[in-house]
Amino acid sequence: MGTDQSEPHRTGKDREVTAGNLPGVLTSPVLERVEAIYRRCRELNEGVVATYIPELANADRHWFGMCLVTADGQIYEAGDTRQPFTIQSISKPFTYGAALAACGPSVIGARVGVEPSGDAFNAISLEPVTGRPANPMINAGAIAACGLLRGETPAAKLAGLLDTYSLFAGRTLTIDEAVFTSERDTGFRNRAIGYLLRNAGILDEDPDPILDLYFRQCSVLVDCRDLAVMAATLAGGGVNPLTGVRALDAASVESVLSIMASCGMYDFAGEWMCHVGLPAKSGVSGGIMAVLPGQMGIGIFSPPLDAHGNSVRGIAACRELSQSFGLHLFADPQSAPRAGRDVIHRTYTAREVASKRERLPEARRWLTEIGCAARVYELQGVLAFGTAEVIVREICEHASDEMEIAVLDLSRVAHLNRTAADLLCLLVLRLSERGKRLIFAHRSPDFSELLAACLEKCREAETGAGLDMLTFPDVDRALEWCEDTLLAGCREYVAAQADGEDAGESAPLESFALLRGLSAAELAVARRLLCCVEYRAGERIVEAGEPADCLFLVASGEVTAMLPLLSGHEKRLATFTSGMSFGEVAFVEGSTRSATVYADRDTVCWALRREDLDQLAYTHPQIKTAVMENIALGLCQQLRATNMTMSELAQ
Ligand code: DON
Repeated sequence: MGTDQSEPHRTGKDREVTAGNLPGVLTSPVLERVEAIYRRCRELNEGVVATYIPELANADRHWFGMCLVTADGQIYEAGDTRQPFTIQSISKPFTYGAALAACGPSVIGARVGVEPSGDAFNAISLEPVTGRPANPMINAGAIAACGLLRGETPAAKLAGLLDTYSLFAGRTLTIDEAVFTSERDTGFRNRAIGYLLRNAGILDEDPDPILDLYFRQCSVLVDCRDLAVMAATLAGGGVNPLTGVRALDAASVESVLSIMASCGMYDFAGEWMCHVGLPAKSGVSGGIMAVLPGQMGIGIFSPPLDAHGNSVRGIAACRELSQSFGLHLFADPQSAPRAGRDVIHRTYTAREVASKRERLPEARRWLTEIGCAARVYELQGVLAFGTAEVIVREICEHASDEMEIAVLDLSRVAHLNRTAADLLCLLVLRLSERGKRLIFAHRSPDFSELLAACLEKCREAETGAGLDMLTFPDVDRALEWCEDTLLAGCREYVAAQADGEDAGESAPLESFALLRGLSAAELAVARRLLCCVEYRAGERIVEAGEPADCLFLVASGEVTAMLPLLSGHEKRLATFTSGMSFGEVAFVEGSTRSATVYADRDTVCWALRREDLDQLAYTHPQIKTAVMENIALGLCQQLRATNMTMSELAQ
């Protein structure tokens, strides 16, 4: 199949970034770069198309495609990215991965090494005594890996292998029978290798069916885009970024990438690592697959090969891509993402930022005294060793001082790896030994699972250390727990509470800030205006959008105001308990409710209607004035608290 050589070929599905001709569509600068590299490399005309497998000689030397697939499945492509070709040696990492998953590292390690051979792909390079091939990227090692695949029959082994390849590609892959037959009928050198492996006891069975399997795996049809998706699946630790389906376990992927880095480009591996710096694999049909772990997969296809058997344009394009986008694994630390202090987005204490639970003045006063003992760390990005070390160091410093509780907000954390989870769990235990706590705020089931597993392991390693992982859905709820815990630990506050009213009883009218300054007689007048309403737990008291014709005093129980969000979810605005009032803003404005208020448990409220308050202007103007002043004071207090939070969070 030929292709239009004047402009890169583009396609337009959802996740594909294409310049397209659509008016008003902005071309991504990433695609612009990819296309520029494509155009430059297209000018290279050196190299020869492989002919040692007769069927491969039919390839058009002008075919050229480039495709990049990011860790989150974005596709950038230029040229002949849909031209099918046989995968050839690029199959080897996937077969090795499948064999690793099937029989484990020690079984496979006894039959295939992991050392670069520095030889050509078809070298007869078996260790002198053991007969073990140097690595699974050369033919000898790949044939040995085929012999370790799971399956009762050759057909079952092939089906399992095709399944794995298809999971990597995110679509069902098939075999080019013509190429298979062509290679099977001419692959005498591979046949020789197979028999030598059988002779050395590396293969346990008749080599012919295993060789057939190897020839078939080399004849799997892919296109350039498939290669990029398969590479991106390796970059994603084995999970296909388009389908979200795991193709291989993460530990096997780690081994596969390590061997690709040292052996994937055969006797060009050192040069490749210096100039491109990515684990990669090439094939004689002209494909190259390169992986930037955690970030991206690259697939290139152009049949003409250099003396090492690598695609001429493929090598040039990968070199340019690596330089242009700074992809080299060992790139200058200034230009590559590195762990640093910016993993802590910001940090503050419960003194500066309060939870959404409204507190009575006494509790509020105490929290400004003791709130410093709880500190929130809002984290961002990827938590791995380098970033976890920064967090652990910072917490240790604060905990050596006055900090009693550390809250880790993981809601902006994109990835938590095992090392980081492990270090954090160790810190949970160390803090608990000192009577301090490390708690978490996030909604990720994956984080919960990993942290729970790590904590369990830490506990097993240290008998006697027992503490549950405390996790809250968001920082607000975590802060509320911190405030409750600090107040419960504050002897003076607890004593003052014990001396005061029984918490189960209704708050007396004179205790409400809203009615502060009223005489007994005035309170009696106000009492007559209030109408008592009872709500069951869960019942809605007011609804966002409805007109506000009264304000509420919570006599007993607890209510929460929830702000409806555009996303359809709700966010807690405030929780009120007995002795507090709510609904003042819309009441004063004469407007509609901005939040929906629910009774958290069985609750009794006194409602004050606006027309009754207005009536007081004629009968008892001083009562109305006092109430309005108290409302103003309450709103001022709220504004001050909001300003303090804002100035703290703005830093
Ligand atoms: O073993 C062979 O000859 C081929 N089926 C695969 C060779 C290959 O792709 C070598 N890689 N650069």
